[in-house]
Amino acid sequence: MKKTFQNIEGTFDILPEAVDGAAMRRSEAWQYVEETIRAVMRRFAYEEIRTPILEPTELIARGVGQLTDIVSKEMFAFERGDTNYVLRPEVTAPVMRAYLQHHLGQRGGVQKLYYMGPCFRAERPQKGRYRQFHQFGAEVIGADDARADAEVIALMVVVYRALGLEDTVLRINTLGDEHSRPRYKEALQAYFEPHQEALSDTSRERLTRNPLRILDTKDEKERRLLDGAPRLIDFIDEESRNHYEALKAWLGSLDLDFVEDPFLVRGLDYYSRTAFELESPHIGAQSSLAGGGRYDLLAEEVGSKQRVPAVGFAAGLERLFLALDAQGIDLPATPPLDAFLIALGDEAVQWVFPAAHRLREAGLRVGYDLRGRSMKAQMRAANRQNARYVVIVAQDELEAGQAQVKNMGTSEQVPVAFDALTAYLNERKA
Ligand code: HAM
Repeated sequence: MKKTFQNIEGTFDILPEAVDGAAMRRSEAWQYVEETIRAVMRRFAYEEIRTPILEPTELIARGVGQLTDIVSKEMFAFERGDTNYVLRPEVTAPVMRAYLQHHLGQRGGVQKLYYMGPCFRAERPQKGRYRQFHQFGAEVIGADDARADAEVIALMVVVYRALGLEDTVLRINTLGDEHSRPRYKEALQAYFEPHQEALSDTSRERLTRNPLRILDTKDEKERRLLDGAPRLIDFIDEESRNHYEALKAWLGSLDLDFVEDPFLVRGLDYYSRTAFELESPHIGAQSSLAGGGRYDLLAEEVGSKQRVPAVGFAAGLERLFLALDAQGIDLPATPPLDAFLIALGDEAVQWVFPAAHRLREAGLRVGYDLRGRSMKAQMRAANRQNARYVVIVAQDELEAGQAQVKNMGTSEQVPVAFDALTAYLNERKA
């Protein structure tokens, strides 16, 4: 016997019918969620951008930051010839690459872009954390104004609301400019240095490389230590502080609730000023539904001669599904078939095959049986696909030039002339 295969751990199939586990929700549910997201993006006047799955490794390394977990541990990168490729772990750096490469700024005005698609990170798979996952997100490129920050945050929140998720928690913070962070890093190092014994291995490693990430800790003992730690806000430059105040005021003008979290630093290096995350209280340890912030320095980091102010967010579709599941939110069921055509006998098969095609061309959703099965089996297939009408054709019907049409809801059955069938079904379409 030949070897059989399974999908790689941390990836999953999206099937027509749900299998256990929210990430494997049925494809129809994915389509519904994706369409809802697109509709909200359109309402906010964002345009779609699609960038390749493969990007130059160096773009991600420089953009996201060498010292981040994403770049130092989680990249699916490989070499072919003298090019180094990476399966994109996120989309912000690729969007900025495309913006610069195609001079999108020359289209005039601020570029408001959105995207949706797979990303890859070699993390330890667990609930809400996968190796291939799907992000949707939006980037506003070319605006300094704090309204841009408030708008992407509002857009993010509205997507969840549009799907029925109301009780998300928005946390915000400011990281200051490129000068605030190094000064804060030093202060943190100086503070933690004498407390090294109390730190976990991970935090001790972070202390030298990236001390800000210690603020992310979930460890109780470390959290208590944080109480006495220097606070980022005390190191923030005045302009960033004003920007932060403006952001809070704009969010207030939209009646958007938020929690200020001085320990929110995010795991990517390109942020300056605004950082934010959206959480769900219902999805367990990986509680972050979405996150983002301002990244005014990224463009120059990836080769731009000019500073390009920008802000955006990205969200995980799998975590969105987890939250929908946890709250018992039902997504619309698969739409029913308008009709299922049942053929009894060879001649009827000759008639049904092109008839189904004509009905489909006329805009109806139509099924029929491909295996020449019994009447009972064909009825079962019609039921399974939720057909609203069944059209039965056997020898008698062929001779009379009319089909028996059964309404599956009422069980009422009437004869309908072949040439009136399209109109009959069209009038009764769902
Ligand atoms: P991020 O926080 O790394 O940010 O990812 C955003 C979202 O992607 C997370 O909140 C989570 O829902 C989802 N996500 C990340 N990793 C995984 C995973 N392994 N499995 C499942 N879901 C995952 C960014 O990627 C930034 N590019 C966001 C951004 C856009 N900043 C500015 N613009």
